[in-house]
Amino acid sequence: NKGNYEHYMQKEIHEQPESLTTTMRGRLIRGGSCKAKTVLLGGLKDHLKTIRRSRRIVFVGCGTSYNAALAARPILEELSGVPVTMEIASDLVDRQGPIYREDTAVFVSQSGETADTLLAFEYALENGALCVGITNTVSSAIARHTHCGVHINAGAEIGVASTKAYTSQIVVMAMLALAIGGDAISSQARREAIIDGLFDLPNRVREVLKLDHEMKDLAKLLMAEQSLLVFGRGYNYATALEGALKVKEVALMHSEGMLAGEMKHVAYSKQQSVIQQLHARKGRLIVMCSKGDAASVSPGESCRVIEVPQVEDCLQPVVNIVPLQLLAYHLTVLKGYNVDQPRNLAKSVTTQ
Ligand code: UD1
Ligand code: BG6
Repeated sequence: NKGNYEHYMQKEIHEQPESLTTTMRGRLIRGGSCKAKTVLLGGLKDHLKTIRRSRRIVFVGCGTSYNAALAARPILEELSGVPVTMEIASDLVDRQGPIYREDTAVFVSQSGETADTLLAFEYALENGALCVGITNTVSSAIARHTHCGVHINAGAEIGVASTKAYTSQIVVMAMLALAIGGDAISSQARREAIIDGLFDLPNRVREVLKLDHEMKDLAKLLMAEQSLLVFGRGYNYATALEGALKVKEVALMHSEGMLAGEMKHVAYSKQQSVIQQLHARKGRLIVMCSKGDAASVSPGESCRVIEVPQVEDCLQPVVNIVPLQLLAYHLTVLKGYNVDQPRNLAKSVTTQ
């Protein structure tokens, strides 16, 4: 049921404040007067010790689910102290990459049925790793066969391009990082700030959704362009990849997500200098930044600025992807393409 919306993708973008609330329901504990704020993931509580003791956490997924894991990687590394590596499911299987008994392998899949992710799971299982699932689909293959896991509870996602599942996956992995981080005194203030940020997140997403009209105007401006390059770094490297993937998947426009630090193959100290360089080379620039930062990051009048609410750094990807989802949606509708079932794209690829 699309309710008052024209398309499922549009509905699912706009219901993210609610889907995020459902994802967190019963899992965040604010604590009483002297009790600390904590996270409770029922499906993982008996396995946290094993995960903490593992030598490495390996994230495995495809497409949007891979990007969600990439967005959560920095906070998981920070709070767990365990090295976190990333694997695109098909590539892990192609390489028969090393997976050991001391590894925790986390399989991220909205549908829980993607063939490549399932093959990678069987491979990791054979190699003795602890296999954890993160999925939106109760009783899917991933949910049933992994040793343990977390349902993201985002509600059924009908639009072929994943939107609300992406933001809920990031939130679940941020909660996973908090749960693994445990109660170390050294990071207590950081953990409590993240939990406060999580409680506040649905409101911040409600706020960023007000950019809908602005993103539609931007889509009109970009409609005839050949190509869209999306740059991001740090927590928002994943936002660049996922924003570009959305535009590619539904608007069928060439788009590429790039790590801003890789521009000219040198590490720039700040995103700001990349912006200046691109401006100097006459790129048509759109800058997305936190409210209040426009004056310091925007190189001049000609540059369009999209201001988003600022949240705790590790949660910023949840807010920042929303304008890009809206942009992809409007570009597709303006071009007259099918937004809920894009050409040559399946919701779940269950064959190899
Ligand atoms: C569970 C109940 C929820 C109830 C809550 C109350 C289910 C599906 N969930 O939620 O309805 O309100 O207790 O305490 O009945 N799992 C995997 N692999 C996966 C995903 C999950 O093995 O990929 C396992 C988990 O380890 C867990 C079970 O499935 O044993 C349910 O997971 P989840 O729904 O995330 O657990 P709770 O949030 O505790
Ligand atoms: C691909 C879809 O086949 O599978 C992507 O085209 C999707 O849109 C990816 O993100 C992963 O799907 P899932 O269900 O495993 O998260």
